[in-house]
Amino acid sequence: MDKNFYITTPIYYPSAKPHMGHAYSSIIADFFARFKKIDGFNVHFLTGTDEHGLKIQRAAEKKGVDPLKFCDEISKTFRDLSKILNLSNNDFIRTTEKRHSLSVQSLWKELEKNDDIYLSKYSGWYSVSDEAFYSDDELEEIDGKKRSISSKSLVEWVDEESYFFRLSKWEKPLLDHYKNNPNFISPLSRKNEVISFVKSGLNDLSVSRKSFTWGIPVPNNNEHVIYVWLDALTNYISALNYPEINDSMYKNFWPASIHLIGKDILRFHAVYWPAFLLAAKLPLPKRVYGHGWILAGDEKMSKSKGNILDPIEIINQYGLDPLRYYLIKEVSFGNDGNISKERLEDCINSDLANNYGNLCQRVTAFTIKNCAGKIPNKIKFEDDDLKILNKFSLNLDIIRNKIDNQDINFYIDFIVNILFDTNKYFNDQEPWKKKDDIVRLNTIIYTALEIIRKITVMLYPIIPNSTLNALKIFSIKEKDIDFSSIDNHNYLKGNNKINKIDILFKKIEKNND
Ligand code: ME8
Ligand code: MG
Repeated sequence: MDKNFYITTPIYYPSAKPHMGHAYSSIIADFFARFKKIDGFNVHFLTGTDEHGLKIQRAAEKKGVDPLKFCDEISKTFRDLSKILNLSNNDFIRTTEKRHSLSVQSLWKELEKNDDIYLSKYSGWYSVSDEAFYSDDELEEIDGKKRSISSKSLVEWVDEESYFFRLSKWEKPLLDHYKNNPNFISPLSRKNEVISFVKSGLNDLSVSRKSFTWGIPVPNNNEHVIYVWLDALTNYISALNYPEINDSMYKNFWPASIHLIGKDILRFHAVYWPAFLLAAKLPLPKRVYGHGWILAGDEKMSKSKGNILDPIEIINQYGLDPLRYYLIKEVSFGNDGNISKERLEDCINSDLANNYGNLCQRVTAFTIKNCAGKIPNKIKFEDDDLKILNKFSLNLDIIRNKIDNQDINFYIDFIVNILFDTNKYFNDQEPWKKKDDIVRLNTIIYTALEIIRKITVMLYPIIPNSTLNALKIFSIKEKDIDFSSIDNHNYLKGNNKINKIDILFKKIEKNND
């Protein structure tokens, strides 16, 4: 079994500083990366910034600064955000790095060598905001201005010499690939729109521009720069040292397990990228998952619309882990979702502070008081205990399978339900009335501690900092967190010390008006 796992986020445009939409993709990717890591995988998690193209060149011109300097500054805010979000990424790639441009030029040469690139002329519409070419039937006219129907961005006319990629040639191989790999495009609801786009006929794709300079030069013709999407998509392999295909990074991690992206850029990842790879005779990523949008009102939150919510503001007000928990639980994965402070506060008060934090405090305090601060020894599980403990073992492989199908909703529902069951278990068992029956008292305490440990392991990919604090109860360190240990009902060793911990989540005072 392949124990390597490679996950990527989109590389974001540093045309303006990051917003909640970027934070969302990155946090979801981090969730998967951390889950796979605690499940024993060798994980590589990549994120970064996409720095070339007319969009960036114009943004820099507007500020009157050199484009590289402009990118240095804003790319740093994305890198800083990855720290603030506590991402476990192994690398952060910038497309202005040498390792990247060398790789893109190698891929170009490969495409050229295989006769997939030719010189001609492009006349048509282009959206700088999307860095995308649109055909007439993808446009609408509003107030005399042409816009993309799907993204609503303005388009402008381009008429210049350009290199083309023979995309048309890959129509049938792409359709075959979708058919033979039914989960290549996920969620399934997004697959049909891609298939019908490909079936409607693919035109060759313009892959170079001559009228501006901010990009990677075409090998042997530096009057042209390479189309920014061909440049950007290559980041997924340039970060693995492509074209060094015998390098261990490339060998271990390509093809990627999953490219996690927003649905806005599905066409680039599910059509163009696989076509480039097919043409270069390279393996295709195993999956492209296009998640939904964080909305502002009923519109997509976006830099160009200016309707953005700064994740740092929310983090300063509520803390990082509550935000991570909220995004994972309250935005139904795959669909669009809103940020509501009201619901975020409910998550903190009811799920995190009450159902989880308070359970940890309460059981720890009870253990310290009744078992001399140690994990109890003589225990004998009864049906009531096993009923809840077995929920973990019976679901272990189901949970793995759900995660491999990006069913985050299942994962979080499992946790929420079991937290409810555990609180109920502890109340119903009334251990405070069992002081005459040491074995029963010990068993209830041990069971509650075991469940807290298991839930905490499962919460770790969602709220890493808080769970590391909770694991101090058992002196468990980050490197020892192991998902498969939720199968073990005797993991905690009797007589080991139980430590008191600080409050995990502070409740938010709510106004009732
Ligand atoms: O498209 N809701 O960069 P970008 C959820 N550079 N996710 C959102 C979002 C929202 N409102 N807004 C942005 C680009 N995102 C290219 C990518 S990849 C080779 C090149 C997230 O800065 C989501 O993942 O416009 C979306 O696909 C991505 O940011 C687009 O970021
Ligand atoms: Mg965008």
